[in-house]
Amino acid sequence: MKRLLAVFVSAAMMLSLAACGSSASPAASSSAAPSASAPASSAAATESKPEASGAGKKIGVAMPTQSSQRWIQDGGNMKEKLEELGYEVDLQYAEDDVQMQVSQLENMITNGASCLVVASIDSSALVNVLAQAKAAGIPVVAYDRLLMDTDAVDYYATFDNKGVGTAIGQYIEEKMGLKEGKGPYNIEFFAGSPDDNNAHMLNAGMFEVLQPYLDSGKLVCVSGQTDFDTICTLRWSQETAQQRMENLLSANYSTGKDVDIVVSPFDGISYGIAAALEGAGYKVGEKWPLITGQDAELMAAKNILSGKQSQTIFKDTRVLAEKCVTMVQAVLEGSQPEINDTETYNNNVKVVPSYLCTPVSVDKDNLTEMLVDTGYYTADQLKG
Ligand code: BGC
Repeated sequence: MKRLLAVFVSAAMMLSLAACGSSASPAASSSAAPSASAPASSAAATESKPEASGAGKKIGVAMPTQSSQRWIQDGGNMKEKLEELGYEVDLQYAEDDVQMQVSQLENMITNGASCLVVASIDSSALVNVLAQAKAAGIPVVAYDRLLMDTDAVDYYATFDNKGVGTAIGQYIEEKMGLKEGKGPYNIEFFAGSPDDNNAHMLNAGMFEVLQPYLDSGKLVCVSGQTDFDTICTLRWSQETAQQRMENLLSANYSTGKDVDIVVSPFDGISYGIAAALEGAGYKVGEKWPLITGQDAELMAAKNILSGKQSQTIFKDTRVLAEKCVTMVQAVLEGSQPEINDTETYNNNVKVVPSYLCTPVSVDKDNLTEMLVDTGYYTADQLKG
């Protein structure tokens, strides 16, 4: 028990040291490390609440899906941190069903939510329900994904989404020695969901780094598929990605050619790509391509250790939740939350004041430092 406590205390200390900008973190932040497959427990959070300004206020938290580990952690962290401040939390997942998310938001409005936190499924599909929230005087904070085409969004807490793509591109550039003139390498591209602004920004950041090498012939996209509409993956689906990778392999790589690099924007997509490669006879350690990813899911971390995946982007969901909660608190208290970007996130109606956290590229060389030493996962979770 003592050892467990020590682990939690040191995890909390590491967390308060972890960078997400340089701002001081709010006082009530000493949560335990999240479990890999379930949201962090909120049980311990309800007792002493020195800053429990939220009493009597209900916060609706709308999350897209439980099919990916990150959103389970995001929801769990948000619930825990809001409850620590005395808020009542209505946390809903919509299982990637746009209409379900609309209904969930309608219910939150009807049930008297004081503020809505929304990670959308389709970022343009919530315009009407968000207008209802605005009419009812309910502030809205966009969580991780920008809410598009609406003026009914007050703030946005996210990671530097273009920076995620830049980091993926730079990882490939460095690992493949592109700057040193190495190549040519065969490469295929996957992008995220077309209805998610993050997917577009990531893609832009990644191509900004890699396009010069396509132009010089040091990277060769054998399929020729590089435009967003062709390489995108609706709802970031693993199955869709697997199917597309199977098609890419059979149409372009069946005649002795090997694919050297596969750009994946999400760990779930990386699993689909890896399954297709295995199905086509590729073996880890033998001509297995460099595969990127995003989210530092537990499975991805294990795959990085075993060589099945090369890299992922670590977006510390604890830090994002912390930032988002301070936005909720500020907006309800009528004060100005900390923001560090007032230019980038134009949703076609307004530029949404944002706080961007810093994504970190992780591969086998810094995985322990970034994911274990920070308390995100325990060493035990990464075994087996
Ligand atoms: C998030 C990513 C995530 C993806 C799929 C994006 O909006 O920014 O972190 O990998 O959705 O869930």
